[in-house]
Amino acid sequence: MNPYEYQEAHRADFLEELKEWLRIPSISTLSAHKDDVRRAAEWLRDHFLRIGMTRAEVFPTRGHPIVYAEWLGAPGAPTVLIYGHYDVQPADDAGNQWLSDPFEPVVRDGNLYARGATDDKGQTFTQIKAVQSLLATGNMPVNVKFVIEGEEESGSTNMYPFVEEHAGLLAADVVVVSDTQILTLDRPSIVIGLRGIVYMEIEVRGPRQALHSGVYGGIVHNPAQALAEILAALHDRDGRVTVPGFYDDVLELSPAERAALAQVPFTLERLQRDTGVSVPWGEPGYELHERLGIRPTLEINGLVSGWTGEGGKTVLPDTALAKVSCRLVPRQDPHTIYRLVADHVAALTPPTVRSETRLLHAGNWVVAEADSPYVQAAARAYEFGFGAAPVYTRDGGSIPVLGALQRVLGTPVVLMGFGLPDDNLHAPNEKYSLECFYRGMKTAARFYQELRR
Ligand code: BES
Ligand code: ZN
Repeated sequence: MNPYEYQEAHRADFLEELKEWLRIPSISTLSAHKDDVRRAAEWLRDHFLRIGMTRAEVFPTRGHPIVYAEWLGAPGAPTVLIYGHYDVQPADDAGNQWLSDPFEPVVRDGNLYARGATDDKGQTFTQIKAVQSLLATGNMPVNVKFVIEGEEESGSTNMYPFVEEHAGLLAADVVVVSDTQILTLDRPSIVIGLRGIVYMEIEVRGPRQALHSGVYGGIVHNPAQALAEILAALHDRDGRVTVPGFYDDVLELSPAERAALAQVPFTLERLQRDTGVSVPWGEPGYELHERLGIRPTLEINGLVSGWTGEGGKTVLPDTALAKVSCRLVPRQDPHTIYRLVADHVAALTPPTVRSETRLLHAGNWVVAEADSPYVQAAARAYEFGFGAAPVYTRDGGSIPVLGALQRVLGTPVVLMGFGLPDDNLHAPNEKYSLECFYRGMKTAARFYQELRR
């Protein structure tokens, strides 16, 4: 049996196994789920041993554990490091929008619905099953290592020191990640750029405690208002970020590079269909796909202050908090950008209140060269798996530790994503297309065979 026949013969078992893993609510950002995260890691380690990996271990960290596994039975052949994450986003259902339980996976219309179905248990599992199909049929052409972490969705805090401390263990010729999206089933794509991220919170404090807004309103600067004034000053009217120096290190792309990206435009129709927003917004002078792929942003992710419960309460709050993150592009440094934003917030803060900006986490952008032999091998593999040559895109999302992994190990990366744009990642009704699962396994297995050539 060849690995592709093996994959077809075992589709049903693979699906049941993936469902079992998806049932474990490994939400890394919620401390109440700490044990679930650990269980998901242990499940994965056991699974690695069951499919024939010769070593599989759960490495504890100060936060959530990291799962490492290897099979090094092809001396002389290239070594591939597959990175992924087994943690998932919360699946809160305030709007009652999930059509089925996020942690009771079900198949509807050829899609597997569950939190983590695509991001990233489903896509990581696709890689695992590709490796299994090669091992089980005696066809494994390369050495493989897996490093699957449990904190990607919370900024990969403990993965950074792990990479530094275990650089030898993780050493490889190429890092492969399946945690991104293709355009459509008939038009696969390889992501050659991901944005970096720096996440912070800005707190404004005013009076010692909340005050009656009639008794003090008009003589005490309201922290909610002061924060709104500061935040409003971080963009100009057109949508450019006003933080001094913010754009200084941004690498401008050549006209040829911009033309190449323009082959895959982000259309107004798609924006309207996907989001329900009718009029786009953003930095002038750049197309929508450029604003997402090659330009940095500053976003307000959340705002809290004062009374937000039922009815009215005439209060002048003592504090106001904003969660703010910047998406970053080549050559911007996350820590430099953090300093620039924090300094600007300090400069914008009037003497009537106090402000503090705190760093939560940071991750670098990633670039993969489209003409690297690894990306080219991946392109041939997609053609085999999906029946069409991939196009190259730059995506707006982030995989925080990937830049560090690339730098510390000195390896190229291949972003071999199998998600679809309507997979609802981080949202209600997250799904993974079974067709992506099947074609993805085929693509990944073929990629490892291509690397041997
Ligand atoms: N899988 C995503 C990243 C992604 C999404 C890449 C869409 C390409 C297209 C990843 O799990 C993710 O969501 N990352 C977070 C990182 C953050 C929490 C530090 C992100 O981008 O917001
Ligand atoms: Zn992910």
